[in-house]
Amino acid sequence: MRINPSILAADFANLERELGRISSADLVHVDIMDNHFVPNLTFGLPMVERLQQVSPIPLDVHLMIDDPDRWAPGYAEAGAYSVTFHVEAAADPVGLARRLRQLGARAGIALKPGTDIAPYLELLPEFDQVLVMTVEPGFGGQSFMAETMPKLRRVADAVRAAGLDVWLQVDGGITADTIRIAAEAGADTFVAGSAVFGAEVPADRIASLRDAAATHTHSRSDGTGSLDE
Ligand code: DX5
Ligand code: ZN
Repeated sequence: MRINPSILAADFANLERELGRISSADLVHVDIMDNHFVPNLTFGLPMVERLQQVSPIPLDVHLMIDDPDRWAPGYAEAGAYSVTFHVEAAADPVGLARRLRQLGARAGIALKPGTDIAPYLELLPEFDQVLVMTVEPGFGGQSFMAETMPKLRRVADAVRAAGLDVWLQVDGGITADTIRIAAEAGADTFVAGSAVFGAEVPADRIASLRDAAATHTHSRSDGTGSLDE
């Protein structure tokens, strides 16, 4: 169970201090938005290069940008532990994932709530992480979309059936309540922005989210190993 706080909800004027408040987390989630793929703008590579130098925990970069084929490798070169791009934006997801792995990063694909996982199930060995978005990407503080859970279950069962080591990440509207739903559906890696940085003591919130996730882990109901739900 991994808890990755999103610095989208942090105090941008004091990012180094904010990173210190979440040092008990597993990775720090960094949302890159280009105002094209999503209708919002955050920060880019120079910021990530600097965060990489000062962060006590590894970087989990989430690229919500057009043309990741061109831009994503730069984030791996900057030392990000994990680089996740959206399949809706990538021309060659498998080629890009191979390039990211070559550069030493974990390679992730992200899917918007309306994007089907079916075309990617066969390709799962090419990726280290699948990010099932639980809100429409673009903004923090939105409500968790439970209708994305069947897709998460489908990936979880496919990963398990194939015996792969692919992390299953959820991002958007994760709270002490919704984290249980996502954990039950098979997620093992949880992004939380407002829930962590909105807490008085982020480290306590990280611990309670981790506990809530750990007590609600995914189990198959039929035990057959079938990919169909
Ligand atoms: C949304 C971002 C999320 C966001 C989550 O597009 O990808 O990472 O920071 O924020 P919360 O946890 O507040 O929904
Ligand atoms: Zn994100």
